[in-house]
Amino acid sequence: TTVEWEAESYDMGGHDTYMHKEISEQPDAVDRVLRGRIDDRFSTVHLGGLNLDAREARGVRRIKILGCGTSYHAGLIGAQLIEELARIPADAEPASEFRYRNPVVDPDTLYVAVSQSGETYDVLAAVQELKRKGARVLGVVNVVGSAIARETDGGVYVHAGPEVCVVSTKCFTNTVVSFALLALHLGRIRDLSVADGKRIIAGLRRLPEQISEILATEGDIEKLAAQYAQASSMMFIGRVRGYPVALEASLKLKEISYIHAEAYPASELKHGPLALIEPALPTVAIVPDDDLLEKNRAALEEIKARSGPILAVAHQEQEKADHTIVVPKNETELDAILMGIPLQLLAYHTALALGRDIDKPRNLAKSVTVE
Ligand code: G6P
Repeated sequence: TTVEWEAESYDMGGHDTYMHKEISEQPDAVDRVLRGRIDDRFSTVHLGGLNLDAREARGVRRIKILGCGTSYHAGLIGAQLIEELARIPADAEPASEFRYRNPVVDPDTLYVAVSQSGETYDVLAAVQELKRKGARVLGVVNVVGSAIARETDGGVYVHAGPEVCVVSTKCFTNTVVSFALLALHLGRIRDLSVADGKRIIAGLRRLPEQISEILATEGDIEKLAAQYAQASSMMFIGRVRGYPVALEASLKLKEISYIHAEAYPASELKHGPLALIEPALPTVAIVPDDDLLEKNRAALEEIKARSGPILAVAHQEQEKADHTIVVPKNETELDAILMGIPLQLLAYHTALALGRDIDKPRNLAKSVTVE
């Protein structure tokens, strides 16, 4: 009922786990997803398999992204990138839910199915239903020639390379970068300026080097993880671009460490979860240098006032936090990509400290091909 990579057939390349290998491969993986696609002359990108001409792209009124698990989270960031760069209303929804609510299928909506494996049943079934109802469906898929890649009308290959660990890391990052490419492409066909196109392209090109800088801080993150491994529960917060990062980091932690974790928009703290804050509940806060910086800082103050331990992932040291993981700044639209990376390492080292089976967490499969 499940598809497993033949793990033994891929070399671990000197790493103790596939997860560690795959986290480490991200600078190369991002380099690969960009390669051959950037067009400096027109400050845009070419996506060979998209199958959507300029006239069709201009006619898109709405974009609906569907995926499961980590791919759904990548889709949430993708929707934000599309709204920001292409100014097309976009949102993401778990494919597993979409199918069951007799969705209204609109001819001016472009549907995008996201999947690492390209075999997830819930996503495939959503694609098939959409196609039955006459919708246009693109794929953002890693495995070339997979079922979802074949069923969709066109799409973007993620080029992350084989991912063996059950939980997704490099494919998540590459999927988000693929959405940035799609958003840039659609944006330049519509109203995104040449200057903004250039700015985003330059930002994308900086990513591999900046990811390497983050990976070089692994030793520090490992030390932090030793402390957080003692927690029985953790809270993850972020706002707007930081919120899907919080969702994904919380998923990663619970999948491989089995520590309970939940993610909230920082703005929602006061509407409920603040009741949980106490010295035994650490909060991981995503705090980018953007127009919400002061608001995020206010949230840290609220948590500190209740003696909640705070780990910030930020572009500069956060005074209210007990620890800050400082990540390099990119263009605001692309910051989410980098902020997730130290949290992959945090989940990894927390699980390692607890002696978990990192590549094969209990009860989970790499690819769920049944309902
Ligand atoms: C399974 C895996 C998750 C993954 C999800 C979607 O539940 O355990 O890690 O995110 O499927 O997989 P896909 O291959 O469609 O991206």
